[in-house]
Amino acid sequence: MWDFPLFPEQASSNAQKVDALMLFEVGILLFFTILICVLILVFSLRFRRGARVDRSHPPTHGKAMETVWIVVPLLLSIVMFVWATRLFYELYEAPPDAAEISVVGKQWMWYLQHPQGRAETNELHVPLGQAVKLNMTSQDVIHSFFIPAFRIKQDVLPGRYTSLWFRPTKVGVYDLFCAEYCGTNHSIMIGKVHVMEPADYEQWLAAKGVGPSQAEEGEQLFVQHHCAGCHRGSQTVSAPRLEGIYGKPVPIQKGKDVGFVTADDRYIRDSILMPKSEVVAGYEPLMPSYKDQISEPDLLKIIAYIKSIATRETSQ
Ligand code: CUA
Repeated sequence: MWDFPLFPEQASSNAQKVDALMLFEVGILLFFTILICVLILVFSLRFRRGARVDRSHPPTHGKAMETVWIVVPLLLSIVMFVWATRLFYELYEAPPDAAEISVVGKQWMWYLQHPQGRAETNELHVPLGQAVKLNMTSQDVIHSFFIPAFRIKQDVLPGRYTSLWFRPTKVGVYDLFCAEYCGTNHSIMIGKVHVMEPADYEQWLAAKGVGPSQAEEGEQLFVQHHCAGCHRGSQTVSAPRLEGIYGKPVPIQKGKDVGFVTADDRYIRDSILMPKSEVVAGYEPLMPSYKDQISEPDLLKIIAYIKSIATRETSQ
């Protein structure tokens, strides 16, 4: 059997769009490569030494031709630029209904957790047709999360959150790779993505019993690390309440000025690890740093908890 697939299967809503752009670019590339090769061959044969051709008035200028070779490539480049930029935005802006799954890369495995609580390593189970947004970070070095069948790839960086999204369109099992050389065992940092019927996915989620959700685990950590002591209203320490802050602008004291920062995953993470860097206006920088005390997966759980209370009113 001919088993050398040039293209992996198209299993996500964006796969065809990525392939179309890719084919367009390869097509243009082939067209010009072949055109130039053929012209080189034709001219070198026709004007070879000893051939009887008219060499009396070689042209030095050709306005029409020069215009064509400036304008045509320019237009083609603009088409590619606009097309690719629009697709880039589509590929990186998750739709609002996307389910969020946490991804932590570390030498040399992938750790993933679903919002319902179930965690897995080197495997990702997702329901067919449901948009999924991956919130990703690394515990050590730079990795890269790559699912060829979905045509998505994104670097996974330590100290930073990056994201990807996809909507699977075909039930099946697909390859998952680390696409960034990350050390000795980079080549074994691979896994499988299982696209399941939504009902099967529900069963899979419940298969290990209904445990605490990611946000509930986050709340436990929130209490365990004594965050609750100050952030849930304390008599002695004044710390901002966290209900309702997720996604909202927070006033930050910057010298004498007050600036605003959105309370997103990045801000919450930095506030836990580097609490002195962006202190909420009106509060003392009293919070200790939790650097090296909370693992990446746990940080994501705490963020999930703070997100889960985004719609809750502050109870004084
Ligand atoms: Cu992780 Cu390569």
